[in-house]
Amino acid sequence: MSKKPLILGIESSCDETAASLITENELGLPVVLSNIISSQVEVHKKFGGVVPELAARSHIEKIDWIVKKAIDESGRKIEEIDGVASTAGPGLIVCLSVGLSFGKAFASAINKPFIAVNHLEGHALSPKLNSNLEFPYLLLLISGGHSQYLSVNNLDQYKRLGTTIDDALGEAFDKTAKLLGIEFPGGPKIEILAEKGDPKKYKLPKPIFNKGGCNLSFAGLKTAILKISKTIKSEQDKYDLAASFQNTIEEILYKKTRIAFTEFEKINSLNEKIFVVAGGVAANKKIRSMLINLCKENNYKNIFPPIEFCGDNAAMIAMVGLKKYKLNQFSNLDHPAIPRWPLDKSAIFLKGAGVKL
Ligand code: KG4
Ligand code: ZN
Repeated sequence: MSKKPLILGIESSCDETAASLITENELGLPVVLSNIISSQVEVHKKFGGVVPELAARSHIEKIDWIVKKAIDESGRKIEEIDGVASTAGPGLIVCLSVGLSFGKAFASAINKPFIAVNHLEGHALSPKLNSNLEFPYLLLLISGGHSQYLSVNNLDQYKRLGTTIDDALGEAFDKTAKLLGIEFPGGPKIEILAEKGDPKKYKLPKPIFNKGGCNLSFAGLKTAILKISKTIKSEQDKYDLAASFQNTIEEILYKKTRIAFTEFEKINSLNEKIFVVAGGVAANKKIRSMLINLCKENNYKNIFPPIEFCGDNAAMIAMVGLKKYKLNQFSNLDHPAIPRWPLDKSAIFLKGAGVKL
């Protein structure tokens, strides 16, 4: 039996420092040997959001031992590694540069190929880390940095059907939480407060609800919440505002996901309709159950990757690296960090997603 490639993946695009070793089995399915993730939540908490300079410093401090831990936990040796993959974008340039430089240096030191990976490609293929999912599938990625609907057709074959034109959904949750006096990242806490509130108490805007296909927009919501938050008098008002926000998001995602289903079906001939939801906001139980019901109504199979593969992680980066390694798609050592890098090249001129390649 031929030796299966062993790939080290490194992720540092935002506020998680992560490293993973991955190989594959005889069927060509990924085998995650280690998946180490170190979150910087504690570093950014008091600032109410990610501070790029602090994030970069924290990556610098942690990256050596995170990579070492990933190698140790994999049970394999440095000499066995066949290639190194690092996230090259999109993300915060000062953060990307840490993992990218580390990956390039590591690959050079062991004299093995280096592979630059698009972080979004990692998320897009992440459901394949633990399931033998067939292409194509529709992906909704809802995290602190991204909100988009993607038709995932194969490695390097993606069609972006919709994206946020301003804030990401996780960002909208965190900003709402901040206005209610909740610590960063407040998304999960909003969900808990919302359980005690009246979802119909405050009427909030639903930007581009009736236009823009399945594009999303959340910035107007934040402005409305800022105004209302100044009128809040009691804890109950707070719960009601959290519930109204949560309910508005559910209404937006219900409508936009239905549009995304139609668009996805228009461009693919499907034996099975599959809808994958990834990113931190996918942990929201009410959004989850709404999307599960929507899938039932529309004959979609619904997949939520496990939490360790759902948020930012290096296993997904290593997996993309492994696929590219097998195709000899290596990168030069002068590959730049690319802060804005949409997967779908035809989408690059859309508002809010510009990129210079
Ligand atoms: O994908 P993720 O873990 O990491 C990055 O985006 O880097 O997503 C984190 C985001 C944060 O904005 C967080 O507030 C949000 O996901 N989030 C939630 C919930 N859990 C995490 N938002 C709403 N409800 C939740 N239960
Ligand atoms: Zn991400």
